[in-house]
Amino acid sequence: MMSSSFSRSLWKTIATLLYPTIYYPFSKIGYRIHAKTFDSSELQVDLTGKVCLVTGANSGIGYETARALAIRNAQVWLLCRNRERGLDALRKIQNITKNPQVFLEILDVSKVESIEDFIGRFDEDQVDILVNNAGALPHDFVLTEDGYELTLVTNLVGTYLLTEMLYPKLSRSSHSRVLNISSGGMYVEKLNLDRLITEENTFSSIRTYAQTKRALVVLTEIWAQKWKDSSIKVNSMHPGWADTPALKASLTTFWKFTRKKLRTPQEGADTIIWMSLSEKLKNVSGKFFFDRKARRTHYLPWTQESPEERERLKSYLETILEKHSLVVEEKK
Ligand SMILES: NC(=O)c1ccc[n+]([C@@H]2O[C@H](COP(=O)([O-])OP(=O)(O)OC[C@H]3O[C@@H](n4cnc5c(N)ncnc54)[C@H](OP(=O)(O)O)[C@@H]3O)[C@@H](O)[C@H]2O)c1
Repeated sequence: MMSSSFSRSLWKTIATLLYPTIYYPFSKIGYRIHAKTFDSSELQVDLTGKVCLVTGANSGIGYETARALAIRNAQVWLLCRNRERGLDALRKIQNITKNPQVFLEILDVSKVESIEDFIGRFDEDQVDILVNNAGALPHDFVLTEDGYELTLVTNLVGTYLLTEMLYPKLSRSSHSRVLNISSGGMYVEKLNLDRLITEENTFSSIRTYAQTKRALVVLTEIWAQKWKDSSIKVNSMHPGWADTPALKASLTTFWKFTRKKLRTPQEGADTIIWMSLSEKLKNVSGKFFFDRKARRTHYLPWTQESPEERERLKSYLETILEKHSLVVEEKK
């Protein structure tokens, strides 16, 4: 019989050879090959006393993440925009895990007022794990009441504001983790604020989505640098292709052709759960993960952004905090 370390090395070689083909690694085949290299003991962690927040926790990858954190005895807050769907998920997770420390809060990350209200209400002293999972890929150009295009505000601006406003609570934890859920689609886009911030006539559903997910990865690196002397570690990841309501509704044709090969939502959530738990990531910040491994953020040479474009993104987001007169209270 093969030793388990030999078998793991063999699967690592197979995974490395298949990675550039994209289709295999992102599908369930890729997950199952990569899973042969996983060390299950890394997930055997008890989270008693840890405060965890998951946005978009009522469905798909976010639901599976919240459930996995609750099973490990964390205090878990499901941050959902819809009360009915949120309550449904809350009841399911409470039933499955019997964890009395699972709660629902209504939060729409695309609305500045909703973020502010949540920050005002949320009175836990510290946050240990924040999973920025809520995401959208709308077909059409929609301008929100705050004047932001919907993809941009859901996937990037709302995530930025929520995280910045939680900074004092994140920094009160002796070791906190912020996890940003990006997408493999970001690989084809070069960060470009003129494509990221669109008008009705420049909006393109998939390109705008990929720009927001690229920007989220760059923002992760900016935050890691900014918070390097704090207790906060921030990383991003992409889940591959998972069979979830968002994928079905947003990319219906793609879903129809690939659905038998898609990952389950649990498989899509696996790396998020690992990133929340693994000791290996305790001091890691600013990295991008896929299937429990740090990955390059660029495979195509022309997608590398310039330092000026990174600076533009940083200034744009900082201006938004000022525009809404949002004050990030300093660490006490
Ligand atoms: N599935 C994939 O193959 C795939 C691939 C790459 C990246 N991702 C990313 O993975 C994340 C999770 O998506 P999923 O595939 O698991 O889809 P999903 O099952 O549809 O979950 C998306 C979640 O985000 C929530 N959401 C959307 N807009 C929101 C808002 N404004 N405020 C608060 N919550 C909001 C949804 O709430 P409602 O139920 O109320 O709509 C839902 O709970 C997203 O960031 C997505 O971009 C997924």
